[in-house]
Amino acid sequence: MRMTDIIAAKRDGQILSEEQIRDMIERYVADEIPDYQMSAMMMAIYFQGMTDRELTVLTDAMAKSGDMVDLSEIQGIKVDKHSTGGVGDKTTLIAAPIAAACGVKVAKMSGKGLGFTGGTVDKLEAIPGFRTVLDRKEFFDVVNRTGLSVIGQSGNLAPADKKLYALRDVTATVESIPLIAASIMSKKLAAGSDCILLDVKTGSGAFMSGREDARALAEKMVRIGTLAGRKTIALITNMEEPLGNYIGNSLEVAEAVETLRGNGPEDLTELSVELAANMLYLAQKGELETCRQQAAAVLADGTALECLKAMAAAQGGDPESLSDTSLLPRAPYSREVKAKTEGFIAGLDAKMCGMASGLLGAGRETKDSVIDPGAGIILHKKTNDYVMAGEPIATLYTSKEELFPEAVNVLEKAVTLGKAPKGKKQMVYERIV
Ligand code: URA
Repeated sequence: MRMTDIIAAKRDGQILSEEQIRDMIERYVADEIPDYQMSAMMMAIYFQGMTDRELTVLTDAMAKSGDMVDLSEIQGIKVDKHSTGGVGDKTTLIAAPIAAACGVKVAKMSGKGLGFTGGTVDKLEAIPGFRTVLDRKEFFDVVNRTGLSVIGQSGNLAPADKKLYALRDVTATVESIPLIAASIMSKKLAAGSDCILLDVKTGSGAFMSGREDARALAEKMVRIGTLAGRKTIALITNMEEPLGNYIGNSLEVAEAVETLRGNGPEDLTELSVELAANMLYLAQKGELETCRQQAAAVLADGTALECLKAMAAAQGGDPESLSDTSLLPRAPYSREVKAKTEGFIAGLDAKMCGMASGLLGAGRETKDSVIDPGAGIILHKKTNDYVMAGEPIATLYTSKEELFPEAVNVLEKAVTLGKAPKGKKQMVYERIV
């Protein structure tokens, strides 16, 4: 099969056969197809798109280019959760223990965060001693004993995606909804769970800022997952302002613990319970409303928090630091950002809050950057809160004092004041089944 013929077929809007797609991915991973030909193919897909069938074959071929994790040694229904990423998004640390406390198994592999804030693995690594590298046997054992385990992504998970993503990054083809869907879902299929819950964020702090694009991506991913034989649901959720009040790795662990104690902020609690309820629904624990009640019950009686603590202890984390979160790392320098005038907070731009947090050291610019686990931001005010002139809106934390001026400047620009409150924000816009 000549690659030029496959490129020409896609360029001319034809539907590629399963054989053509699988052959192309296999040979690309084996370095038998050069990057310049694959670049042309990515651009052809960018313009012509792919049918759901083509996309499912592409995703499956990408998944099978490396290890396909076999979770059959873990008893029960395994449910994975994926977020397209947002600022202050610590929902995995809350929803996964809730699901586990209700009897669902969560065996999750998470990538390291690239961007303003860390990923779930970076957040967990802020717990002193927590190990995110476990061998297969230990990973399965932790899930069987505690109901959940979160570890770093194995090096050989969907290598075709690694290679293609690096190519798309330098050929202006990242912003293709079918290619993003295949990229995300190839890793989810390879990770082996029976069911997949997708949290597709939309708003200023989201990768897909527009609602229509977020819906298109969610629909594609749900189609791919379903056609690949995994029960898949997507929620399209609000990322206009940061989720919860804490941004930054150890700060987010502390807020997740507070939420599991029942004292979390309303937006974070509401979304985490909704995500957990959908995980329960996927695992056939009942109708969605019953699942919401089950999720709320294990949050209220503390069993979900116990699940998080059990997983942390099983992975070497200091359990004391989850009982007393003041033991988690906190960067030594702090600075308050105060309101210059009074008014109601009309907006707290999530992207700018994320940038400010990244500038303080909480994020990672390249895959080799070192994260400052205790850096970040505590927001004292959120949208609709009233603030008086001189009152603190946020406290910033870092280990390098010289990082404050730029971060303060960005955070000040993130805040808009208005004359009246805007009304309750909607956390979940749509559910796509
Ligand atoms: N995240 C991914 O994993 N892949 C993409 O293509 C975009 C975001």
